[in-house]
Amino acid sequence: MAKQHKTFVCQNCGSTTTRWAGKCDACGEWNTIIEEAPRESLPKGVSGGKGGRKIEFVDLKGASAPPPRRSTTIAELDRVCGGGLVAGSVILVGGDPGIGKSTLLLQATGLLAAKAVCVYVTGEESVDQVRLRAQRLGLGHANVALASATNVRDIVASLEDGSPPDVVVIDSIQTMFSDSTDSAPGTVTQVRTCAHELVRVAKKRGFTLFLVGHVTKEGTLAGPRVLEHMVDTVLYFEGDRGHQFRILRAVKNRFGATDEIGVFAMTDAGLQEVLNPSALFLAERRGNVSGSCVFAGLEGSRPVLVEIQALVAPSSPGQARRAVVGWDSARLNMIVAVLEARCGLAFGSTDIYLNVAGGLRIQEPAADLAVAAALISALTGNPVPAGAVVFGEIGLSGEVRAVSQRDLRLKEAAKLGFQQAWIPRPPQKDGARTDKTPRASETKNDFAIKDIGHVQDVVSQFTAAKESRPGTARA
Ligand code: TYD
Ligand code: MG
Repeated sequence: MAKQHKTFVCQNCGSTTTRWAGKCDACGEWNTIIEEAPRESLPKGVSGGKGGRKIEFVDLKGASAPPPRRSTTIAELDRVCGGGLVAGSVILVGGDPGIGKSTLLLQATGLLAAKAVCVYVTGEESVDQVRLRAQRLGLGHANVALASATNVRDIVASLEDGSPPDVVVIDSIQTMFSDSTDSAPGTVTQVRTCAHELVRVAKKRGFTLFLVGHVTKEGTLAGPRVLEHMVDTVLYFEGDRGHQFRILRAVKNRFGATDEIGVFAMTDAGLQEVLNPSALFLAERRGNVSGSCVFAGLEGSRPVLVEIQALVAPSSPGQARRAVVGWDSARLNMIVAVLEARCGLAFGSTDIYLNVAGGLRIQEPAADLAVAAALISALTGNPVPAGAVVFGEIGLSGEVRAVSQRDLRLKEAAKLGFQQAWIPRPPQKDGARTDKTPRASETKNDFAIKDIGHVQDVVSQFTAAKESRPGTARA
């Protein structure tokens, strides 16, 4: 009999070795390598190039209708999924514990149950707990098939039996186990095997499968990246548990655009959709405070206005702190360096705190100019005008570059009552403006646009405002 080779798999990075070791050579983590059952060897003659059937190739052009979509009746969830649920697709929903993943999916299935056959399998809670939550959400009478189970073989057998359901929720993939491998639930091997079996049955029977996934301390989905590759859509449910806002973000979508967001508020009656996030994010803003600046951002296809707050305070000698919430700290250091080198501002012996109010995490470089304006405002003590929005990308020489969807951002700002924008000029080609639409200042008389070509222009805006203000006469 041929000798069976053992395989050892790192639970952190998924790399395989032939020997057990205390430390993984690939990722450097300790105690993450465990033995995995060997793949069943193929009978003689099956491997190799012989015996395969010829596949048929087709033209790229040809009529393929877009997949039909099933609306969940939660518009924010539909948008993030690319316009509704696609039959046979698999959606992974990741997020911190307690952020509201189970609540969201219970609400979605509860509402969908009026028109579709919905199954909710929980491995984390008891049937009673889920029932009580459904009652609290006002969905106690929804026609959802509920089960508390963790054995994937049983779940797959039930899903293959009878007429297929339309939507299935597995909460969570880390609690599931398959008896075809020996590893404990939650390990890479188990997560991969269970997900594989569930994905297979979803494709075969054509239902939409939601998998709930846990997030590790580092903020990535527990288990290897392999889980993200196996599914069609990856959604992250994020937010600060201290805030009521929750943001559902698409990071991968084979059936739609990524970086779409859905905004929810967690209330006593479950998750409520937030149809106008800008108004919500700006609700608690105080006007005319130094260090505060409104950024007209873009999340997927929708404009979102958020307040960026900066605080600059004297630091202990040699211990300048930089703390950032909701933005990239490396990017903050870059902006500070540009302001010091190109505008002669001195942040050297100060602590800098930067916060994106409302718990939103911004990834766009377009926020550079708003961050710079908030920093200059905090350093000089002059407020950014309360009616101004700011956006633009900053380069290392201090130049401010145009960003996409200028008009969409300005329209949202005008809708919310802003009267001023500090923004870069639209890109120019051979001296001609490339955007065909008239400038906002030309279309609306009460909306003033200040062209910012360099960060120094932002500094000048503050001095200009100060000089024009009564009572602050020049010396
Ligand atoms: P849950 O959906 O259990 O989170 P996850 O599945 O992501 O771990 O969310 C639980 C949290 O939501 C818990 O802290 C209580 C809160 N919550 C409300 O505030 N209102 C509600 O109506 C419900 C059902 C939960
Ligand atoms: Mg849960």
